[in-house]
Amino acid sequence: MSFVMIAAVDAETGLIGAGNKLIHRVPEDLARFRELTKRAVLVLMGRKTFESLPGAEAATQARRTPLPGRNLAVLTEGPMKGDGYRTPQGDEVSFVSRESVDSIMNWMERGGKQQTLYIAGGAQVYREMMPRADAIEITEIKKPGFQAVGDAYFPKIDPREWELSVRSPWYFSDAAQSEYRFLTYTRIKKENQA
Ligand SMILES: NC(=O)c1ccc[n+]([C@@H]2O[C@H](COP(=O)([O-])OP(=O)(O)OC[C@H]3O[C@@H](n4cnc5c(N)ncnc54)[C@H](OP(=O)(O)O)[C@@H]3O)[C@@H](O)[C@H]2O)c1
Repeated sequence: MSFVMIAAVDAETGLIGAGNKLIHRVPEDLARFRELTKRAVLVLMGRKTFESLPGAEAATQARRTPLPGRNLAVLTEGPMKGDGYRTPQGDEVSFVSRESVDSIMNWMERGGKQQTLYIAGGAQVYREMMPRADAIEITEIKKPGFQAVGDAYFPKIDPREWELSVRSPWYFSDAAQSEYRFLTYTRIKKENQA
């Protein structure tokens, strides 16, 4: 069992969003998100991030999912809380409270199986879930000549708690005219932890 936060972050500013939209759209990063999360038992995100996904509203009305091939839990205290459905393809979409998420995570911890829950943002959900995360998958992105402006930031990664365990070289996306690299942080285990 592991809880993994996954985010695309502007390398210069730490921004992840502006006006409920992404700062950067790099196809290679989106492909990595798809690749990693397709093996997840569950993808968790906040209601605002869910609403920002392309086609989310139409998908919900038609009982489809904007993230095919994955089970999705959307954190909310709003009117959709408690709603949920299974798509014809078998993907589950649920709108859940924090208590429900904690129950799922506690159940996963007790199960101890090789399961991964991905925490896919946004800023509020990253902040709230960071204490429970075991790993963080970051795509750092920078676009030459572009100064990011926004309102949603990834939380600070405290080097006393997190170790940078993998850092890829910088790559270049022709499609996005941006540089990007992948960073994996793992939580530093305290001495009395297994
Ligand atoms: N770059 C990236 O990788 C990335 C990834 C994801 C998102 N983003 C960006 O992040 C921004 C959105 O972030 P955000 O902080 O504004 O919103 P968010 O975290 O996506 O969603 C916040 C909402 O989630 C629900 N929520 C959060 N904590 C909860 C709790 N403990 N209990 C119940 N419900 C809870 C609430 O929904 P209700 O109001 O319905 O109760 C809250 O308003 C956007 O700009 C988006 O594009 C970027």
